Amino acid sequence: MTAPLRDSFGRIHTNLRISVTDRCNIRCFYCMPADNVQFMNRRELLTYEEIERFVRVAVRLGVNKVRLTGGEPLVRADLDVLVEKLARIAGIHDIGLTTNGILLAAQAQRLYDAGLRRINVSLDALSPEKFREITRRDGYEQVIEGILAAQAAGFDPVKVNAVSIRGLTEDEIVPLGRFARETGVELRFIEFMPLDADNAWEREKVLFAQEIIDTLSAEIAPLVPLGRQDPTAPATEFEFADGLGRIGFIASVSQPFCMSCNRFRLTADGKLRNCLFSLEETDIKAILRSGGDDDEIARAIRECIAAKKEGHEINTARFIQPERPMYSIGG
Ligand code: 5AD
Ligand code: SF4
Repeated sequence: MTAPLRDSFGRIHTNLRISVTDRCNIRCFYCMPADNVQFMNRRELLTYEEIERFVRVAVRLGVNKVRLTGGEPLVRADLDVLVEKLARIAGIHDIGLTTNGILLAAQAQRLYDAGLRRINVSLDALSPEKFREITRRDGYEQVIEGILAAQAAGFDPVKVNAVSIRGLTEDEIVPLGRFARETGVELRFIEFMPLDADNAWEREKVLFAQEIIDTLSAEIAPLVPLGRQDPTAPATEFEFADGLGRIGFIASVSQPFCMSCNRFRLTADGKLRNCLFSLEETDIKAILRSGGDDDEIARAIRECIAAKKEGHEINTARFIQPERPMYSIGG
């Protein structure tokens, strides 16, 4: 194999997140505007063949893990076909999906059979009213059905992502903790990051991981840290002291993990980003559609990674929110 994708801080990039669409069937306020979203033209989206070609080149550079994201990836037709293509690539050890779960019940088995093994379902609230307040749509019951269907299809564990927002989701912490214990899903609380379309993020709205740990420990059972199995994983994992229920925390704001980051991102319209918070991107689609060869794609990937900044700087006055909100980057 050729040299790995190393940036100027020595971080080696093996983990690629691929957004397959910016469309979504709900409208979480921390990600999307409420209405009148300007979606990408379908012709702008990379085809499954183009994505596959890109991944084959990335694998030559050391990528071994991919995750499909959106928007909501399950609104794109026949996602299992893409999973199957990617699963066939020698060198890809791991394919994951991050979904809002609404369309999951009908697709879980097909995705598993195509080779998908990791699944993260986003669910911030167990109260249907709170769910509607956050997502500005209905769909709570479908998400729960989707989670159960994923478990039945063989995904183990199913992970559930809950974005936590001060002044909004405090009352959800304990019910979500109990849900994890009852269903066996692995719950991960994510700190609210400045990637919303309405620029409504404020530091005061970030509900810090430590506060959630304290609440769960007091109300359910003490949380015991499990230590980091994978040093590049953004989540810090805990288990309830009685052994029942695993909870992770993605403390992107209070404890940035940029220095161990191994990820980069391909947007649905074929732009490569070396960070969620990048202000610059590399136009891969232009290379793919102008007859560029694999070496040209490889060079573009290397240059993109080489230019990666040290970290996101959310906690400094220098921070600039990227123009693309979360739904058009892919989480
Ligand atoms: N801050 C934190 N997490 C976010 N997500 C989407 N937008 C934000 C944000 N502004 C989460 C989604 C999903 C994952 C892809 O990222 O809830 O679980
Ligand atoms: Fe859709 Fe995910 Fe954004 Fe929610 S966070 S609006 S599910 S893309």
